[in-house]
Amino acid sequence: MYGLVNQAIRDMICVNHGQEAWDRVRQRAEVKVDRFQGMEPYPDDLTHRLVMAASVELEETPDALLRAFGEFWVTYTASEGYGPLMEMAGSSLPEFLHNLDDLHARVGVNFPQLVPPSFDTEELGEGTMHLHYHSQRQGLAPMVIGLVEGLGDRFDTPVEVEQLACRRDGADHDVFAVRYDEPADPP
Ligand code: HEM
Repeated sequence: MYGLVNQAIRDMICVNHGQEAWDRVRQRAEVKVDRFQGMEPYPDDLTHRLVMAASVELEETPDALLRAFGEFWVTYTASEGYGPLMEMAGSSLPEFLHNLDDLHARVGVNFPQLVPPSFDTEELGEGTMHLHYHSQRQGLAPMVIGLVEGLGDRFDTPVEVEQLACRRDGADHDVFAVRYDEPADPP
């Protein structure tokens, strides 16, 4: 994955646990560098090692870390110069979720080796949507839950995410039920 992702993991650990905790994580993960080049691709294995090492050092499950990371990513990208891209993707939670593939297609202009996820939305009415997540990578479904929760915060929209189907359990792809408070009609 691009260094932007690894750098965000580093920053999340430094913000929440301090530089010394990050040093322990990267040593356990056998990562020599302290910082990552955002626009350089790194092997997925490095990101995987960071998550597993953080899980041991910080005594949290990999799933909990990935979920927290998803939430962190929403504000991180906005503060790292990708705010305009985020703005373009929509001004409400359902609109934004619907436009995730367009968002990553725009990201891909500057990140030519991007291996982006793909999302389909199924609107069921009354503030419920099914979100279908397709990925060439394994194990990142908990990150999606955190991402949707982070987007709920971004749009001041209370949201609940429930995983309905898991690739981990043999399903073809991951499916989430997203229940959100629909914005009140303007007066
Ligand atoms: C402007 C904001 C964003 C940027 C710049 C961005 C960029 C990226 C980058 C660089 C990767 C790594 C993929 C690779 O290196 O091959 C990635 C992966 C991913 N992104 Fe985004 N992203 C953004 C917003 C979002 C949002 C809001 C979601 C919400 C669902 C999301 C979902 C994901 C997921 C789930 C992955 C994991 C990749 C996989 O499943 O294979 N991203 N994104």
